[in-house]
Amino acid sequence: MDILTGPNVHIKDKTAVNEKIKALMKGGSKSLQVISDFDRTLSRHSYKGKVCPSCHGILESGLVMSESTRMELQELKTKYYSIEIDHNMTIKEKIPYMIEWYEKSHTIMLGANILKDHIADSVRESNVRLKDGCDEMFTLLNNHSVPLLIFSAGVGDILKEVISQKSTFHPNMKIVSNFMKFNEKGKMIGFLSDLIHVFNKNEGSLCHSQYFNDIRHRHNILLLGDSMGDLHMADGVEDVSTCLKIGYLNDKVDVLLDSFMDAWDIVLTDDQSMDVTNAILSLVT
Ligand code: C5P
Repeated sequence: MDILTGPNVHIKDKTAVNEKIKALMKGGSKSLQVISDFDRTLSRHSYKGKVCPSCHGILESGLVMSESTRMELQELKTKYYSIEIDHNMTIKEKIPYMIEWYEKSHTIMLGANILKDHIADSVRESNVRLKDGCDEMFTLLNNHSVPLLIFSAGVGDILKEVISQKSTFHPNMKIVSNFMKFNEKGKMIGFLSDLIHVFNKNEGSLCHSQYFNDIRHRHNILLLGDSMGDLHMADGVEDVSTCLKIGYLNDKVDVLLDSFMDAWDIVLTDDQSMDVTNAILSLVT
């Protein structure tokens, strides 16, 4: 495939990738399900040289929060994001820090008087963007009734709003994420379910076994992510025939590329488009 020969495409075992693509093609749409991360996988990491916000980052806008609250959250992000992508630490070592980050930031969010009514405007005024070709991917999957699970350690309400504003939230899509809980006045008072952080997506996927049970005849998976934790998003799927893993590597490419190539079938560096994924999907569907 020409699309797999670009300078930003990195594949450790080309034969294995070709075999997996052939198996996905053989199974077609009816055997396929897509499981994807959101922040920096479906959304852009950067646009015109400027880093785009994550779901949490969108909430950290002047529209929603005071300057001092934003500073507090920014300080946490500076500290903990570097741990999230530290290649010298194991996932096991990172988990307590991730829990600490989410707990601290969620406590600050609870004191920030976040209103449901602010969500749409904060998305509209932010610099968030879906990757080029995301809209086409969503349409293609919906047209072929291929289920798309978006599994995110971000904020579910925000990512749903991003998709609705920038594209279309189709009936084949399901979100598993941290959804906010609001009181009758529309003020955020917590989260609806157990915390999903970057490295516990394995627990989350098992909790959503009913979803996977409903689509259990779909043995082929296209898995999209940007973090080692995303590799576990399909842990709840039983009897997997073929799982093609595409990893989007955005940060610290020089130090992380080798470990990403060991873990993901295809690694795309600094790719702000869904071109490779869409090219594969057009062969499969
Ligand atoms: O969609 P995804 O699972 O990638 O969302 C999680 C992302 O949100 C992480 O990559 C993390 O860097 C980011 N995050 C953040 N602020 C927080 C917690 C997580 O920007 N308070």
